[in-house]
Amino acid sequence: MQTTSLGIKDPAISALALGAASLGSVYSEVSQQNANETVRTALELGVNFIDVAPYYGLTRAETALGHALQGVQREAYALATKIGRYGDKDWDFSREATLRSLDASLGRLKCGHIDILQCHDIEMGDYQQLIDEALPTLHDLKRQGVINFVGITGYDLALLEKVAVEQRVDTVMAYCTYTLQDQRLAPVARRLQGHGISVFNASPLGMGLLTRRGPPDWHPGHPSVHAAAAEAAQICTEAGSDISKLALQFALQGAVKNGMATTVIGSSSPANMRDNMAALSEPIDPDLLARVEAILAPVLNQGWDVLPGNGGKAGK
Ligand SMILES: NC(=O)c1ccc[n+]([C@@H]2O[C@H](COP(=O)([O-])OP(=O)(O)OC[C@H]3O[C@@H](n4cnc5c(N)ncnc54)[C@H](OP(=O)(O)O)[C@@H]3O)[C@@H](O)[C@H]2O)c1
Repeated sequence: MQTTSLGIKDPAISALALGAASLGSVYSEVSQQNANETVRTALELGVNFIDVAPYYGLTRAETALGHALQGVQREAYALATKIGRYGDKDWDFSREATLRSLDASLGRLKCGHIDILQCHDIEMGDYQQLIDEALPTLHDLKRQGVINFVGITGYDLALLEKVAVEQRVDTVMAYCTYTLQDQRLAPVARRLQGHGISVFNASPLGMGLLTRRGPPDWHPGHPSVHAAAAEAAQICTEAGSDISKLALQFALQGAVKNGMATTVIGSSSPANMRDNMAALSEPIDPDLLARVEAILAPVLNQGWDVLPGNGGKAGK
């Protein structure tokens, strides 16, 4: 698999990364055995970068991932986790909470060290505390060699770009903003790449929107977006394909075109993870893509900041 280097000291990261939010049972209940098999399948097939957070499943994802990684050589993967978000409406970007959170994550993940530590959902927490405490603490940890890279994550692209450049972060993770349905991350990613900042495109399936099963009930997208995606999924099924495959291939192509370091997909299913890895090497179906793009055109770039939906827990 193609890889991208984040800097001088680190291993290059794979073009497809595993997002471990699913392992916290945020989409459906996930057994530890499923978590183990999904993580092992991903690693065996060439994924070497995993992203997680204390918030996912309120620490369940980190705990499940820590178990799944037992016995795996630490050099086999790079690991990113986050600080600052601890509940649906619970943020703390203070220095004390940041250091406490890192310690707790290390305990749950049992992995020795974290490669990338990210401030989670920066648009939702206290901005001044982010700038005055969380980010300086992460930069201190990097200088001390405790972590390799300082990152930020979120949904508000303008804020991510401003903070990333002004605060000289290493990585930016944006979610649901480079998919078949929303492509607003593309110009931002190109500009950030120009600043030497690595961009991670998370949620290439729009948090389940671009799957046959459809989005979870907490998905913040507008009903018109959900309806268009369901119609697109139906067209793919009728064509003997699967919208998840098309959506992932589209995101991977876009990552290359727009200088994104990796695409972070979530799964708690070894079979889906195998399909996702297979999609990497298969050519995209241009006719099916054109039909799906036509269906999604009326809702293109209609994120929940533009056209609010049910205001689920991922929304503002
Ligand atoms: N603010 C942030 O920092 C932020 C926000 C969102 C996401 N992220 C990161 O990005 C990662 C990915 O996002 P996400 O998991 O929310 O959304 P996603 O990757 O867009 O979608 C995940 C959903 O797609 C399904 N799926 C995966 N592969 C599939 C396949 N081949 N066929 C059918 N369904 C498939 C998964 O179900 P199965 O489990 O059944 O495979 C899961 O329900 C997260 O885990 C997290 O690491 C970060």
